[in-house]
Amino acid sequence: MIYILIKLIHIFSVFIYGGFLFTDNLFLSKMKNDLEKEEHAKIREYFMKYVRLVVPKALVVAVVSGIYLFFVNFGTIEETGLTNFQIILGIKGFLGLWLGLRGVLQVFFGIQPLVFKSHLVPFILVIIIIFLSQLMFTI
Ligand code: HEM
Repeated sequence: MIYILIKLIHIFSVFIYGGFLFTDNLFLSKMKNDLEKEEHAKIREYFMKYVRLVVPKALVVAVVSGIYLFFVNFGTIEETGLTNFQIILGIKGFLGLWLGLRGVLQVFFGIQPLVFKSHLVPFILVIIIIFLSQLMFTI
């Protein structure tokens, strides 16, 4: 029961974080084509004011719940080495942790993002993570 609850928390927090990245990259980024530079900056800032209240916290929840799910699912490493499931889960977890670390450093400590600055790379990473999350149980 606890597992299902935490998995649901994981899915919903990922929805909020990933949902923002989808909205930003697919729709909001197009606004600048129609608006004056200053007008665009003002509207975007207005939107981001509310994004900052929720999305970074959802990312932290996604990472913390993910760590719990990881420890329940990973299992022991046999003498034959890592299974395909463990390898893919490891990659998924690493990418998720990187996104989480990057987001926390930027939003809560004002440290500029590691390696990438736009929202396009996190967007692509989230898509990859979602693919891996479905692939890991079947491969
Ligand atoms: C932003 C980062 C993350 C995204 C977008 C994400 C996305 C997802 C998605 C879509 C699922 C599939 C749920 C399902 O099919 O029912 C999932 C499951 C899972 N995630 Fe994450 N995740 C993230 C971070 C993490 C982290 C950091 C870890 C571990 C360190 C993690 C560990 C897991 C595990 C173990 C599962 C399998 C749970 C199960 O099916 O029982 N995730 N994640």
